[in-house]
Amino acid sequence: MNPATFQFLAGIVKQRSGGVLTADQGYMLDTRLAPLLKREGMASLDALAMRLRSPGADKLAQEMTELLTTNESHFFRDGKPFDHLKELLPVLHKARAPGMPIRIWSAACSTGQEAYSIAIILAEAQEFGPPDLKARRFEIIGTDLTTAVLDRAKEAVFTQFEVQRGLPVRQLMKHFTQTDSRWRAKDHLRGYTKFQQANLLTDLRGFGKFDVIFCRNVLIYFDMPTKSRVLGGLAGQLAPDGALYLGAAETALGITDRLEPILGQRAVYRPASAEPVRARA
Ligand SMILES: C[S@@+](CC[C@H](N)C(=O)[O-])C[C@H]1O[C@@H](n2cnc3c(N)ncnc32)[C@H](O)[C@@H]1O
Repeated sequence: MNPATFQFLAGIVKQRSGGVLTADQGYMLDTRLAPLLKREGMASLDALAMRLRSPGADKLAQEMTELLTTNESHFFRDGKPFDHLKELLPVLHKARAPGMPIRIWSAACSTGQEAYSIAIILAEAQEFGPPDLKARRFEIIGTDLTTAVLDRAKEAVFTQFEVQRGLPVRQLMKHFTQTDSRWRAKDHLRGYTKFQQANLLTDLRGFGKFDVIFCRNVLIYFDMPTKSRVLGGLAGQLAPDGALYLGAAETALGITDRLEPILGQRAVYRPASAEPVRARA
């Protein structure tokens, strides 16, 4: 591929998703875009670049961008955020008026394992919790840039390999139904969730305020100004006593002053202007 072609394609991806592609990822473009080239009858990425330079190529540019996102995910990824959420739920429940739903956002949810892991936490908290917690309404909104992964998240069907990654057998048997070698989340889990396309680079205030936000393993693909912008936006949508969970390799420190870490926790933040932090066990 011509180096100018790489720069051009990487520029489109950066502009549309925030993801930064480096020159050593040229191979990734070759492999991931091969089916697109075949479908479009194009001989090379140079030909694709030429098509994208002509007017009316918006849909193709979006399709290419989505194909170049990394959608790796698994159930209960990193463990700790979900343990923290279990402790936070009763606190939020107590702080909210009875009729108010508790809203949780899985931003960059990929194929839905994060959203369904959260749903399991909620289902078990409601099953074993006090009656007023049983009556509480919860909403999990999963969003992602990539439509193909959202379709899978909505379907809620996972392969044997996927459920074996992080989902304890007890919870698999309890919350999923098996058909051949696939497992589908049961109605009670799916009932908590809604999935919708949304780009983190855009103004997402229309989604309203959230009590909890998971935005994990997507900031790693962004440059500093993009991280700062996205984190600032998330801070604005987080309740003052809510929590934002980032990925294990991600931080908000030194990137935005709109968030502060929750003491004693790794990669868990709250809006910066909130009351003094009380450490949780
Ligand atoms: C590695 S997955 C993370 C999935 C899940 N949060 C987890 O930690 O397991 C990253 C996801 O971010 C999505 N993504 C990338 N850029 C995005 C953007 N600008 N807006 C929304 N989602 C984006 C990708 O489509 C991909 O599904």
